[in-house]
Amino acid sequence: MRYAWLAMAVAAVALAFAVARLAPWRDSDVAATNAPDIGGAFELVDHTGRAVTQADFAGDFMLVYFGFTSCPDICPTAMQAVAQALDDLGGKAARVRPVLITVDPERDTPAVLADYVANFHPRLVGLTGTPEQVAAAARAYKVYYAKVPSEEGDYVMDHSAILYLMGPDGRYIRHFTHGDGADEIAAALREAL
Ligand code: NI
Repeated sequence: MRYAWLAMAVAAVALAFAVARLAPWRDSDVAATNAPDIGGAFELVDHTGRAVTQADFAGDFMLVYFGFTSCPDICPTAMQAVAQALDDLGGKAARVRPVLITVDPERDTPAVLADYVANFHPRLVGLTGTPEQVAAAARAYKVYYAKVPSEEGDYVMDHSAILYLMGPDGRYIRHFTHGDGADEIAAALREAL
């Protein structure tokens, strides 16, 4: 019987540790406990030259993509899929704010972004900032990017090609990868809206 008591004591200590570890999250809801820690506050400049933060998008669903305007293939494909998904949603798209955050702030000025987003969708917002502001936003979204020299003596940006769907409270809902087209995005938005 001695060993049974010992086992119970060990179990009690283990439980106490488990509760202590969970304690910081006790006040948040279950969904938040399970959701990956993606997104959060940012300070950037939009394609009209206006300083914006996360607060400017509060209350709307966001589709967040990090890319750059001289990307030859991956970014335009993603932006086309977003634009098509918004068109498929019709009036409901009014609750969705798609944003392209550049990972190439050196070249992607507000003016360059303004030309670029106009090619895709009237609701699309281009965001840029100082290299530090962009790096902070990318860190918040766990996005990787790096400058890669090209043969022409120029450079391209290597970057994660993930599209994030964020809720009106700014919390992560889900993400899409490069293989997901307009149909998948529109279906997920219909479910979330
Ligand atoms: Ni790209």
